[in-house]
Amino acid sequence: MLIVTTIEGLKREREKIPKTATVGFVPTMGALHLGHVSLIQRALAETDFVVVSIFVNPLQFGPNEDLARYPRQLDKDCEICEKLGVHLLFAPSVEEMNAVGDDLTLVVPPKSMTSVLCGKYRPGHFEGVATIVTKLFHLVQPHVAYFGQKDAQQVAIIKRLVRDLNFPVQIKTCPTVREASGLALSSRNQYLTATEKEKATLIYRSLSRVQEAFHRGERKCQPLLDIIHSSFAHPDCGLTLQYAEIVHPDTLQPLSHITDSALVAVAAFCGTTRLIDNVILTVTKPIIALDGPAGAGKSTVSRRLAHQLGYLYLDTGAMYRAVTWLVMENNISPEDEKAIADMVKNVKIELIPSDDLNSPVTVRVNQQDVTKAIRSPEVTRLVSKIAAQKAVREKMVQLQQEYGKKGGIVAEGRDIGTHVFPQAQLKIFLTASPQARAKRRLLELHNQGETDINLEQLITEIQQRDYLDSTREIAPLQKAADAIEINTDNLTVEEVVEKIKSLLNHIPH
Ligand code: PAF
Repeated sequence: MLIVTTIEGLKREREKIPKTATVGFVPTMGALHLGHVSLIQRALAETDFVVVSIFVNPLQFGPNEDLARYPRQLDKDCEICEKLGVHLLFAPSVEEMNAVGDDLTLVVPPKSMTSVLCGKYRPGHFEGVATIVTKLFHLVQPHVAYFGQKDAQQVAIIKRLVRDLNFPVQIKTCPTVREASGLALSSRNQYLTATEKEKATLIYRSLSRVQEAFHRGERKCQPLLDIIHSSFAHPDCGLTLQYAEIVHPDTLQPLSHITDSALVAVAAFCGTTRLIDNVILTVTKPIIALDGPAGAGKSTVSRRLAHQLGYLYLDTGAMYRAVTWLVMENNISPEDEKAIADMVKNVKIELIPSDDLNSPVTVRVNQQDVTKAIRSPEVTRLVSKIAAQKAVREKMVQLQQEYGKKGGIVAEGRDIGTHVFPQAQLKIFLTASPQARAKRRLLELHNQGETDINLEQLITEIQQRDYLDSTREIAPLQKAADAIEINTDNLTVEEVVEKIKSLLNHIPH
């Protein structure tokens, strides 16, 4: 590992890095702990050449703060970096960095971001950080720079700085590393006695209580903040809360209600040691599971609902139709479960949402557009049989669950609420009488130009299909115990959609 202490030395070494190599940078103030180690390891994993800087920056300390006693342990830090495989360590002196005095050029981040949270109590701190980080970015010229989520306000300000001043660097935020007790790692934890360390766990405990309340559905910020205030209210808690705030994670502006994501940040004194911590709360959009027999209006309702909510419409029926189409295309016998299992192992099915409500989702199988082909009567006749096969089912469920990871989907099928997404926040079982369903199907087929099929035939087909779907061994059509049943016989599509939307407003998500 190269160790340089001068700006000239750093420039020389920077020049030598091959142009094709990506440079990762971890700026620190030393006293390295496992939080820093996680940043360095990530940089080593993602970039070719890793630079770590160690510089206790006087510009970011207030007159009554801990600059003089801030832990300095350069030899130990060098050893840690060396062992990790850091390529270059930059450890300049204060003089070398020209980082003292009143007569300096300073980088001033937006007031809106520095006048909140820690900025309110540490005037000049973020100007000091922004100035030194700007200087380090110029010298190191990294492609990627790594920061810890523990300093959430710092990260938000640096991201803004990079954007506003057009630095060609990508900022990556790494999760806060905690002790088993929950205490966030910090170089300043060295100031704490064993008893204080124990007491300091209250910070994360209070944040965890906020997280729990949020996951139970609380979205108003005041009740969430009250949880923190009451946690610190006990005179024996041993900590003094400096602030607890809930702000937008990017703009840092205070929030009164959480609709998307929020940063809950706390600063507290444990004796004379000031500690900070935070958590991010993210509203995940729910999964709406729509099950029910064929022809009850599931796909029309799902498509419209997804369109109005801005969710993804997960047309699971189309996925099974796509496999059925592929079975036919490859001339595989529908009885040959082994050949179908082999075929489905590597199948690639893509559902590409369309902004146009009238045209269905585009379906691609192994790159081929099969949107229209999968709606043929032959596919319709065979799909139940193929969908009931274990290997097909397992593969499709795996693909569907992949789609569901981010939430914000409307999924329709036969076993969505019971099997694919048993955790779905809203489960609807859409039914209709066989007569009503056959009429709708007939109309659909007529619109597609299929006229040589009559209503009676369709009713029989539907009854047979219902029987097959609800009696098959694998994933039979089932109503989840917690599903809400809607019979669509006398309802328009729009009425059903409105009903589901109003149900959605009553669930916590
Ligand atoms: O996070 C820190 O250790 C410091 O604020 C930084 C980014 C190294 C700037 O001095």
